[in-house]
Amino acid sequence: MLRISIAHPEAEARERWCAALSQLLPAASVEGWRPGAEPADYAVSWYPEPGFFGGQTRLRALFSAGAGVDHLLRHPDLPSALPIVRLEDAGMAEQMVEYCLHEVLRVQRRVNDYEALQRERRWEELRSLRREELPIGVFGLGVLGEQVARAFAALGYPVRGFSRSPKAIDGVECFDDRHGLRAFLEGCRVLVLLAPLTPDTRDLFDAERLGWLPQGAWLVNVARGGLVVDEALLAAADSGRLAGATLDVFREEPLPAAHPFWGHPRIRMTPHVSAVTLPEVSARQVAAKIEALERGEPVSGLVDRRRGY
Ligand code: NAP
Ligand code: GLV
Repeated sequence: MLRISIAHPEAEARERWCAALSQLLPAASVEGWRPGAEPADYAVSWYPEPGFFGGQTRLRALFSAGAGVDHLLRHPDLPSALPIVRLEDAGMAEQMVEYCLHEVLRVQRRVNDYEALQRERRWEELRSLRREELPIGVFGLGVLGEQVARAFAALGYPVRGFSRSPKAIDGVECFDDRHGLRAFLEGCRVLVLLAPLTPDTRDLFDAERLGWLPQGAWLVNVARGGLVVDEALLAAADSGRLAGATLDVFREEPLPAAHPFWGHPRIRMTPHVSAVTLPEVSARQVAAKIEALERGEPVSGLVDRRRGY
């Protein structure tokens, strides 16, 4: 019998994954992992607990319970040849679009500025921006970034995107290394980060790169905290060089209570919730891929460990 192990530390998520996968694959045994559990053929995990890999003698693939895999690739016990399959959209793109649109509208309609005025009890009218005055840049045009870019383009915003490989997306001005990051960043009034954390993207947004954004730009980081150098962001926000930033992801999560982001007037924060994993939707994708792998067919979403995503 096919055995599927759910190695998820949160009981509720574990139970939802087990219930959904058991229903979709009734011939399989689907169980939450615990020390001493029988070896599994497939596993679903965000980050396997210590001891998980030691008992796996026949694991054929590990399904990431998220789109990003940087944390999994850093797991000290990860077997070097184990295929890793990540989630592709699975209900996350819609959430990302909503989150980014909300943040862009706050900038466009000056909500961030009005909140500051309210704190000072000041009645003052500010000029809203028109959509055409608000070019949106999306760094990372993958499964999620492309849908975010398309959504803004469909609403009439000027949209540009940057990816590792060349892309052509209707309504989106596409940049890659041939054009250079500077040419891309210089035209972003709002910059949305949606690329994976890899050796190439870690610390990429330092003082120099943030300085390439137009004066008064707004940063939305929904990718990983490690893409941005915290001190450079704080300096840019303190000086007003950046109007501010919306951060959903951090170098250390939960963000330590003493971190200056918490109380910074130009920084808005959410606790890594811009696009959460939906176990029931994701299980449909994972079940279909397990069935394909069992038939000997290739599946999409296979992580390329050399690229880091
Ligand atoms: P994806 O499909 O793998 O897309 C990644 C995109 O980033 C691709 O366009 C890729 O270029 C580009 N990229 C990779 N390295 C790059 C580099 N060095 N320079 C420029 N572009 C680079 O991933 P996804 O599913 O869209 O997810 C993106 C990331 O979002 C995840 O890795 C995760 O960290 C984050 N995420 C966050 C949340 C949250 O709740 N905050 C939820 C889900 C995902 P190519 O197209 O050329 O490969
Ligand atoms: C969440 O951050 C994910 O990578 O799915």
